[in-house]
Order: sequence, then structure tokens, then C-alpha cells
Amino acid sequence: MKRIAVLGSTGSIGRSTMDVVRHLPEEVRVTALAAHSNIDLLEAQIREFHPDVAAVYEPSAAKALRRRMPNCEILEGPQGLNAVAAHHNADFVVSAVVGTAGLAPTLAAIEARKDVGLANKEVLIAAGALVTSLARKNKINLIPIDSEHSALFQCLLGEERGAIRRLILTASGGPFRAHTDEQLQKVSVEDALRHPTWNMGPKVTIDSSTLMNKGLEIIEAYWLFGVSPDRIDVVIHPQSIIHSMVEFQDGSIKAQMNVPDMINPIQYALTYPRRLCGRFPPYDFTKYSSLTFSSPDTRRFRCLRLAYQALRAGGTLPCFMNAANEVLVNRFLKKEIPWHAIAHQLEGLMEKHQPIMNPDLRTILEVDAQARQEAQ
Ligand SMILES: NC(=O)c1ccc[n+]([C@@H]2O[C@H](COP(=O)([O-])OP(=O)(O)OC[C@H]3O[C@@H](n4cnc5c(N)ncnc54)[C@H](OP(=O)(O)O)[C@@H]3O)[C@@H](O)[C@H]2O)c1
Repeated sequence: MKRIAVLGSTGSIGRSTMDVVRHLPEEVRVTALAAHSNIDLLEAQIREFHPDVAAVYEPSAAKALRRRMPNCEILEGPQGLNAVAAHHNADFVVSAVVGTAGLAPTLAAIEARKDVGLANKEVLIAAGALVTSLARKNKINLIPIDSEHSALFQCLLGEERGAIRRLILTASGGPFRAHTDEQLQKVSVEDALRHPTWNMGPKVTIDSSTLMNKGLEIIEAYWLFGVSPDRIDVVIHPQSIIHSMVEFQDGSIKAQMNVPDMINPIQYALTYPRRLCGRFPPYDFTKYSSLTFSSPDTRRFRCLRLAYQALRAGGTLPCFMNAANEVLVNRFLKKEIPWHAIAHQLEGLMEKHQPIMNPDLRTILEVDAQARQEAQ
């Protein structure tokens, strides 16, 4: 029985994680939960899964939940989140808080020597060197939940790292894949939130529409698999059936595929290295008979280019880019700036940032805060 803590249990990944637990009650038990402020859903999850402890980031919401659930220990604030991540009754932590808020609790989980299922890609963008070196030092497994990285992880099982020619990340292309420059000037928040193949939280959905999501995933792949940026490629694959591929030195390509549902990579992370019975019927080749591929357009979708630039420059630039992007996405969601301004403003802000090499955690948090202020 695997005992898990779920950071961000009320979000899209968190809810899918709970679905996996419902499906595998003999295999997985939830011992700790954390969310920001959605106490209605958190209360329902506590009643259903009976964790030992829960944390609510927002103190007033934590107080309200304590009144509703006097028999469950309810922690609050960043310390509460860290305590859930390091809880003695959990062996595995699902890191599914959105944004850099997930960094400190993910580090807390690794410090406490828990295996981590990593959905939160921003953690590796902001602090990839710190997170991966701490994971190596503490000998814990960092198992990707992001579908592309779960695919790469599965393709690489049993293979030597030296045999990799390149990693090929697939991208749906988002809702604006075929839009002209003129159309891109006018897209609305509602249009951008309508993802053609994946059902996800708002931040990652907007990142998918700008291709920043793929940019962040290139950086995530760099840290998870130690492959240089010039050997990480992106291919547009609108059906989202092939989740990513590895091409080897001998020319062979391994692809991992199934229907686009986060249940699959989450279940794999929770049961790794085993494969247990899944929730979906056998794959129907007649239903998905056409798989197509094309190159991404980094002129119309500049965020992808910016992410490659950030990764190549290194130091604090990826962290700066990630934090500034998070704020610009929020401003777009609040209808303060148009969609095309996300990439445009990000590029201007990144040009002014002088990257600091080999940053420690304090520097990373300072740069993150500075980027947020400038993007605001
Ligand atoms: N959704 C997907 O299909 C998908 C796929 C691949 C990777 N990812 C990655 O997974 C992460 C989560 O994405 P999502 O789509 O699940 O996001 P989401 O639906 O917006 O959910 C975010 C979760 O984080 C919680 N949260 C936010 N700030 C917090 C804080 N300061 N303290 C504690 N909890 C906090 C939210 O709590 P409240 O509900 O209380 O606000 C919620 O549970 C992101 O990094 C995303 O890039 C997502």
C-alpha cells in the first residue's frame, strides 16, 4: 500500500489523482492533502479519503475548515504546506500545486526523503539544478506526471542515456495552431481556455495556447533527463495521442501513446515500477486512425523560442521567465492585457534581466519576486 500526500488536491491534477486512488483502493491510501483556499472541495475530499492531516494555504479559509472539520488536523500557510509535504505517514508526494508556490513544499518532500510525482513543471524551471541535485543526494525518485515527461521516462526505461539521439516532445499546438497573425490579435480569454484535446487548469491551458507550456516542458525535460537543448525537439501533433518520443543513435524511435487523459501518467507515477489495470477500454485504432505531425511556428508562437533562449542562457533566466509569464498569464485571464502581449511583454522583460549563474534558493526566490513585480 502506497501512502500519498497530494499538494494541490483540489486542482485538475489533484482531482485526477483522487480518481486514481478511487480506482486503486487496495494500492494507494491518501494520508495528507493540501490546497490554497477551495475548502468546499477539500472538505469533501477529507470526508471521502480520511487523511491524517490537511493544509490550507489561506489562513482565513483554514480557520473556516477547522470549524467544519473539528476532528481533522488542519494546518495553514506555507508551513502547513511544507508539513503536509514532509508528513511522516506519507511515502510519496504528488506535487500538483500550480506555479512557483509548489517549489518550497516540493523541496520539503525531497528533504524528507519522499519519492515525488512531479506535475508542477514550474518547480524545475525555477530551480532545476537545486531540485535535481537534492533528489540525487537524498536518493529519491522524481517521477514525472506531466504526460510528455512520463512518456519520455517510459521510453527510456532499460535504455542507456548515451544511446539517446534526441527527445521529441509532442505538442497539440493549442486552440490557435491554425490562426493567422490577424486572428491572433483578437483572441479572447474564453477562446484561449478552450483547449482542443486536454482538460486542464487555467494557467496551463493559457500556456498551451501560447506554446509556453511546451517551452517550459523543454526545460523540464532538460533537468529530468540531462539531454542538451539542441537535442530536445518539439513536433506539433494535434491529436495528442503520442505523448512524446525518444530517437536513439541507431535511428530507432520509441513513442508512448494512449488517449489524452492525465489519469494515465498519474496512475503510472503512483504504481511505478508496476503497471496495474487501467481505467480505459483497449485503445481503438479505428477511432484514432490518423496521427499527423508538423513543425511549430516560433514566429507566431514566440514563447517557445523564448524558452529555448532561457534554457541556453541558463542561471536565473528560466526562473525569471517563468515568474514573469505566470503574472502575464494572470493579467490576461483578468483581461488586463491581450493574448499577444504575453509573449511581447515577456520578451521585453527577459531582455533586461541579467542572469545570475548557479543561484541558491534565496537568489531564486528574489529573482522570482523581482520578475513578478516587473511583469505586474
Ligand atoms: N492539468 C493538467 O492536465 C496538467 C498537465 C500537466 C502538468 N500540469 C501541471 O500541474 C500543475 C497543476 O496544474 P493544474 O492544472 O492541476 O492546476 P489547477 O487546476 O489550477 O490547480 C492548482 C492547485 O494548486 C492549489 N494551489 C495553488 N496555489 C497554492 C498555494 N499557494 N498553496 C497550496 N495550494 C495551492 C490549488 O488550490 P485551490 O483549488 O484551493 O485554489 C489547486 O489545488 C501545474 O504546474 C501544471 O503545469 C497540469
